[in-house]
Amino acid sequence: MAHDHSVVDKVQSLNDIVEIISSYIPLKRAGRSFKALCPFHKEKTPSFIVNPDKQIFHCFGCNAGGDVFTFLMKHENMTFPEALRNLAERVNFKLPEQSSRSKEEVSKQQGLLAIYEKAYEYYRSVYEDSQKGARARQYVKDRGFSEDTAKAFGLGYALDAWRGLFEFLAKKDFPQSSILSSGLIQRSSDGNPYDLFRGRLIFPIWNSQGKVIAFGGRILTSELPKYVNSPESELFKKRSELYGLNLAKRHIPDTRRQLLVVEGYFDLIRLHEAGFKNSVATLGTALTEDHARLIHRYADEAVLVFDPDAAGEAASLRGLDIFLEEGLNVKLLTLPAGFDPDDFIWKKSREAFLERLEGAEDLFDFKLRVLNKRYPKDDSLGLVKVTTEIMDTLGHVKSQILLDRYIQKLSEAMRISEPSIRLELNKMRAKHRIKGENQTLSNRVAADPKFPADNIEATIIALLLSNTALIGQASAEIEPLQFRHPLSRTVLETLIDIYNEQGQSFTLPQVLNRLPDEATKAFLSRITFFEVNDAECEKAFRDCLTAFTKRALKERMDKVQGAIREAERNGEETGMLVREYQNLLLQAK
Ligand code: GTP
Ligand code: MN
Repeated sequence: MAHDHSVVDKVQSLNDIVEIISSYIPLKRAGRSFKALCPFHKEKTPSFIVNPDKQIFHCFGCNAGGDVFTFLMKHENMTFPEALRNLAERVNFKLPEQSSRSKEEVSKQQGLLAIYEKAYEYYRSVYEDSQKGARARQYVKDRGFSEDTAKAFGLGYALDAWRGLFEFLAKKDFPQSSILSSGLIQRSSDGNPYDLFRGRLIFPIWNSQGKVIAFGGRILTSELPKYVNSPESELFKKRSELYGLNLAKRHIPDTRRQLLVVEGYFDLIRLHEAGFKNSVATLGTALTEDHARLIHRYADEAVLVFDPDAAGEAASLRGLDIFLEEGLNVKLLTLPAGFDPDDFIWKKSREAFLERLEGAEDLFDFKLRVLNKRYPKDDSLGLVKVTTEIMDTLGHVKSQILLDRYIQKLSEAMRISEPSIRLELNKMRAKHRIKGENQTLSNRVAADPKFPADNIEATIIALLLSNTALIGQASAEIEPLQFRHPLSRTVLETLIDIYNEQGQSFTLPQVLNRLPDEATKAFLSRITFFEVNDAECEKAFRDCLTAFTKRALKERMDKVQGAIREAERNGEETGMLVREYQNLLLQAK
């Protein structure tokens, strides 16, 4: 458990959910609660409710819900620690220091950052040096970039020498061990240190906060390898960084939260220079879930700009599902064969690129087209293959709005009726659900966005929340594992834990804080809107318990009956099982 409950509870209690949410969207009073148009789905009449007494929100349209942390995480795409920090800062609450181990890690990271910052200054100064940097500046010029651009991207140069950076760092009093652990200095087999980058144009790689966390270096000749990167480190994981994001994030239009995604350093720089400043680059890796999440923090739509070669096509198709799963809209900008974005803008024009951007194809359409090309349409096996693949993609779509649109498109393109597509999709999801015991909870719920089907369990939870004294009884009579639905099971476990620790004196936000994921929080927040009349509570609870035990008994009997049949089929002894069955029968009466 990374966060201390008491700290989380404290930060929560200092922040009023109504105040926080109304700093993002306008809330209207409605009785004791507040209403708004839901920020998480499109709607015309408000079904988004904020309850100040319980300090929770819930949307009855899309079933989003939770506490103030959930709201920030969803609305601002923050992680939990970020939401915690944000809320703590709002009320000037000082979060306790992290544990000493991570303190050590922090100082190690700061040491690394300091070396990278110095190295950056060094490469910059060599680049700017009228003599030493002449070759690099000429290269940049020959590729058609201005000196302003070079400066904006902090381009540097590593001399074609063995110990330029090493000697510079050593003079700055960095201990030899940190210099070597930076990865910028290597050690030869006989132990002599030497520079990683030699004779290369240097691209500093900033993280989204604008700190240099890595470097890329391009050779100025036709030698290989063309590019070298500084190694991965605590600070730099290729799969979760996007080159240029620190600059791009300031240039994402509010009206169109869109980011263009390219592959190379120079592609990215060219786009910025041509005015497409809302662009980022992956660092020569395939798109990852981390990338998608990072993009979604700043944008709702990603335009992937990839070479139309086979590798590019495959990467885009893979990218599609990752992005859809993240809830992003995805488009594909294709360039003529043989052009990357840099060449294209340089050799054609920015207007030509803009035209292609405006014509960018929805990646779903692209996938449909590619699959259609791959399998001939008039052959029914082909039809099945295309639909199966595309269905798989549909299974990743989180947004209902997108899903509806895609189903319609698929129906038109393949001439299959929408109801049959929905039927197939449901079948597929049901299959996933059965297979899915090891799937994450939130995935399973995403496949089943409406209220969990199990009424008895949900009602028991609602009653326990209305009258917390009942939790003691519940823990004596129900084993959480008997709950069928994973959401109600988790909530019941949490309620019993918290009750055992602090009795009845807990608040709803405290419960929410202990729940493991958004899906469970949304489930609980929805349940709290069931109004239960206090006087009816105990009687209702009794009835529910009876119904629940009956059901559990019935399930047990079915199992035993099955086992008896199985044993008979195999010619095995059934006496024990039969006796158990009779016992259960007695209990049932
Ligand atoms: P330029 O030739 O300078 O325009 O580079 P490019 O970006 O057009 O290169 P390419 O399309 O070949 O590669 C795209 C991206 O993959 C580059 O920007 C690099 O990030 C990465 N990359 C290419 N070649 C290498 C290599 O040899 N080593 C490593 N580590 N990365 C590479
Ligand atoms: Mn290129």
